[in-house]
Amino acid sequence: MDANEIKKQVGYAAVDEFITSGMKIGLGTGSTAVWAVRRLGELLKAGKLHGVLAVATSSQTEMECQNLGIPLKSLNDPEIGGSLDFAVDGADEVDEELNLTKGGGGALLIEKIVAYSAKKFVVVVDSSKLVKNLGLGFPVPVEVLREARVSAARACDALGARAEVRMAVKKMGAVITDNGNILLDLKFAKAFDPRGMETELSRVPGVLGNGIFSRNVSEVLAAHSDGRIERLKK
Ligand code: A5P
Repeated sequence: MDANEIKKQVGYAAVDEFITSGMKIGLGTGSTAVWAVRRLGELLKAGKLHGVLAVATSSQTEMECQNLGIPLKSLNDPEIGGSLDFAVDGADEVDEELNLTKGGGGALLIEKIVAYSAKKFVVVVDSSKLVKNLGLGFPVPVEVLREARVSAARACDALGARAEVRMAVKKMGAVITDNGNILLDLKFAKAFDPRGMETELSRVPGVLGNGIFSRNVSEVLAAHSDGRIERLKK
């Protein structure tokens, strides 16, 4: 099965298994989560689901929902009230304790708010994302106020990382997030405690969010190249 087909299978599986009519749902970002969004659009259009309200985690997901006619709300709208029944998203890495890194697509800040506001948070990945230790193969992003670019990078370096500003493609200068901030990508040379590092990074002045998700992951669906979907739970 090719890489895109694997992502499609696992994105579809999460929607088919966990979403029912009337739910308030958080929709993640990326090339895997987009298949969950597409499946939701398909089921709503076919009348197999109804009364679903969705919160998008990025401009990518918002556009996809708009194109598919999926009803979008803000997490702040009274119908949502800052709490979701279910959220689905991809990940860059998943360790054996089901801690994640996210933010390869730059949407980590809203992704974390949405994931941590959901009663059930399910992660969809292909099996290449399963790792022993986070942050050694794929950088951990942090979203930073522009004014804190240098001071936050220094503070992250002191936590054992090498921080680099994420640069844009097809635009000069830094990537500017959906929220108007920049990203520092942190490369770690040594394994770290995910929960401790998530807390430490969140204490750095000017850091608005970081890509370590050590809380609230209910289940990971990991798709293998033979089409098998492995279910990982704590
Ligand atoms: C977006 O900011 C990310 O957190 C994505 O969810 C993550 O990078 C996984 O994306 P893919 O499914 O495209 O690998």
